[in-house]
Amino acid sequence: MDAATAASGSDLKKLESDLTARIGDAADLAVLDDLRVGALGKSGSVTGLLKSLGGLPPEARRGFGQEVNALKQQVTELLEARKDVLQRAALAKRLETELADVTLPVQPGPLAEGRIHPLSQVWDEITAIFADLGFAVAEGPHIETDDYNFTRLNIPAEHPARQETDTFYFKEKADGSRLVLRTHTSPVQIRTMLAHQPPIRIIAPGRVYRCESDQTHTPMFHQVEALVIDEETHMGHLKWTIAEFCKAFFEVEDLRIRLRASHFPFTEPSMEVDIGTEAIGKPGGWLEIGGSGMVHPNVLRAVGLDPERYQGFAFGMGLDRMAMLKYGIPDLRDFFAADLRWLKHYGFLPLDMPSLAGGLSS
Ligand code: DAH
Repeated sequence: MDAATAASGSDLKKLESDLTARIGDAADLAVLDDLRVGALGKSGSVTGLLKSLGGLPPEARRGFGQEVNALKQQVTELLEARKDVLQRAALAKRLETELADVTLPVQPGPLAEGRIHPLSQVWDEITAIFADLGFAVAEGPHIETDDYNFTRLNIPAEHPARQETDTFYFKEKADGSRLVLRTHTSPVQIRTMLAHQPPIRIIAPGRVYRCESDQTHTPMFHQVEALVIDEETHMGHLKWTIAEFCKAFFEVEDLRIRLRASHFPFTEPSMEVDIGTEAIGKPGGWLEIGGSGMVHPNVLRAVGLDPERYQGFAFGMGLDRMAMLKYGIPDLRDFFAADLRWLKHYGFLPLDMPSLAGGLSS
């Protein structure tokens, strides 16, 4: 053995015992990684020795090279072994501190606890059905002008229909006009026809107000209005649309529909809409669900449309009533009582969005 190799050999032994001791003492993974870089990294001590091989005479290079490679192998194994020990220790410590008692009851989160109000559910169901039939959703304000709520719907001052609905009036203005809390969603018909040229196909779900209260009436309730205006629409379209809607809404394929002659100032002819009670699982009878008719020429004139050219149909239904019928809810007042027990019973899971493809109320 020549001098150079002997010197390198004793350096190696020293490096080996030094690294072995320090790896064995490494208290955590960060310290261990510093040691790894210090020995095997680009400018590490073992790497440095490997690099120095090139400067040795060929006869010394082989033997020393083997020793350095053996050291590298040994250090790598030591590092791995120590890493394993430290990782196990860290895990054991976490398991000790992060104890989970699997027998504890699961904490209910908002998704499990929260419920969609049946009215919101029905609102979404109806919107989904009409969207599928090509209807857009229109809106109007709850505080409405007397003109839109009544006059332009062919209900002039002194018309008996003004007394029939118990209207909430605002104070008269200096010019004699009055604002009202809208008594129905029909003024959205007027707003839509003033803002858009036919063809028109909209529904307008929303709140309405009347001064009345009992088991089936509350001073605030909800309606949905539908309006179709173009040049060709006739009563066949009206009946088909209502029938399609009702079958989809009540999820009953063979549903009877009956249009009964009636009177509304804003339609001519006017019909009350009845559906067979098979809709609610009790065949044999009839249920009234709303009013309908062909839009009155006076209403078309009031929004500047020529009744000789344009025509269409409209209908209106009680949203709350539809929810009560479909989901067997007996008292309308409970809808607005904010009673959590009631909501838990009649409400819907928040992630069950009604859609025609995914099922309306499944
Ligand atoms: N607006 C009527 C009401 O509140 C309901 C109604 C009847 C709406 C006939 C319509 C219709 O669009 O054509 O009682």
